[in-house]
Amino acid sequence: MTSPIPAPVAASLPTGVLIDGEWRPASTGATFPVADPATTQVLAEVADGDERDAMAALDAADRAFAEYRQTAPRVRSDLLRAVYDAIVAHTDDIAAVITAEGGKPLAESRGEVAYAAEYVRWYSEQAVRLDGLARRAPAAAHHQLVLRRAVGPALLIAPWNFPIAMIARKVAPALAAGCTAVIKPAQLTPLTTAYVAEIIRAELAARGLPAGTVNVVPSSSARKVSGPLLADLRLRKLSFTGSTEVGRVLLKQSADNILRTSMELGGNAPFLVFEDADIDAAVAGAVAAKMRNAGQTCVAANRILVQRGVAEEFSEKLTAAFSALVVGHGADAGVTVGPLIEPAAVDHVAGLVADAVDGGASVRIGGDAPDRPGYFYAPTVLTGVAPDARVVTEEIFGPVAPVVTFGTEAEGVEMANASPYGLTAYAYTRDVSRALRLAETIETGMLGINRGMVSDATAPFGGVKQSGLGREGGEAGIEEYLESVYVAL
Ligand code: SIN
Repeated sequence: MTSPIPAPVAASLPTGVLIDGEWRPASTGATFPVADPATTQVLAEVADGDERDAMAALDAADRAFAEYRQTAPRVRSDLLRAVYDAIVAHTDDIAAVITAEGGKPLAESRGEVAYAAEYVRWYSEQAVRLDGLARRAPAAAHHQLVLRRAVGPALLIAPWNFPIAMIARKVAPALAAGCTAVIKPAQLTPLTTAYVAEIIRAELAARGLPAGTVNVVPSSSARKVSGPLLADLRLRKLSFTGSTEVGRVLLKQSADNILRTSMELGGNAPFLVFEDADIDAAVAGAVAAKMRNAGQTCVAANRILVQRGVAEEFSEKLTAAFSALVVGHGADAGVTVGPLIEPAAVDHVAGLVADAVDGGASVRIGGDAPDRPGYFYAPTVLTGVAPDARVVTEEIFGPVAPVVTFGTEAEGVEMANASPYGLTAYAYTRDVSRALRLAETIETGMLGINRGMVSDATAPFGGVKQSGLGREGGEAGIEEYLESVYVAL
């Protein structure tokens, strides 16, 4: 099969490290391959950055910070607005790259580009609204001024599942606040980052802004990039999206320098369906919440908790909805479910399904890996799943919907909270009082009521418990890149 990336786009995609405004080979000259998960075909060889590249990138970001932090908010706002315009103008090309290296269907990739662009537009608007405070101190002896200042050079580590949106929601608030950045893209999806970084590089250059404001170090070893940077006092901020396991290691490494950190980590979203719900709407919501990016999102519905009286109706309708999904290469017309990202992901999902079946679950549809090239797993509905099955207690990150039943509302809430994670939850009910009770009692950073999608660039995204620290998006997202300086006057 030919590459899904149009030839002119492929020819213009940078594949080096970006340091101080210049794309160059890695210091060792090494590269690593980037492959299409739907075909395993290699799409490009990308510079394999190491410690030396990481330090060169921090040197550039630190030098640039001295000047970039002083830029007028309007200048930063205009920069971001131009980046937004360029991303929107190149939607189809960027979407083709996302689909090629990440596997999601083209329509979803276009949706991701729009989602990413909205972060950039929102923070271009927020850049000129960095309000401080001035007031007379209550004891009246002095005045209090609170000024907002950019934190400093930031390390932004992005995941592979949303290769443009997750970069956008870190780099846009960083640039709006006046921070400079070193970006470490995911090893599996560095090409999308390269496309967007080139847009930013060109806009910085066109405006005479410091070339080292945004630097990119792709690498086959995240540790080689993050290790030396986290040990360097010039780095003032870490923003990470990825697994709780890796987040925990990065937090420990950040402790020595008391680094500001934002952590968007794993989830195990409960999706509650109550007996008073609109069942058809709940099924549509479950498909949306479960199947976006073939289930590979940290906000994916992981545990479908259905009240006993509607469990059979819901399961039948969910199975019918899954049977209408079309699995295939994301660039092919009509495909609604792409591959998983790598072979290990298929093995993980297959292991969870086998464990559930061993524990007594029934496979209503799917339950296997289709016999075709690429890393596919069939959309799967499991019923009769034990509440302690691994598919319920672990993050699935694949197209498997385990249905577990509950009795009372209190029991449903208890099951929803029986997890160390607390990123997102979903609930379908027609009872507004119940919805408000759930908002008070479910341990989560985000809650969708009669909605299978909570993500919104203009709202605070983030979790509680072991799902993370801090918020991205909305008014809150830029706070992560600002210090408050109190002046007693
Ligand atoms: C994620 O899966 O990490 C984020 C998904 C989203 O922003 O909707």
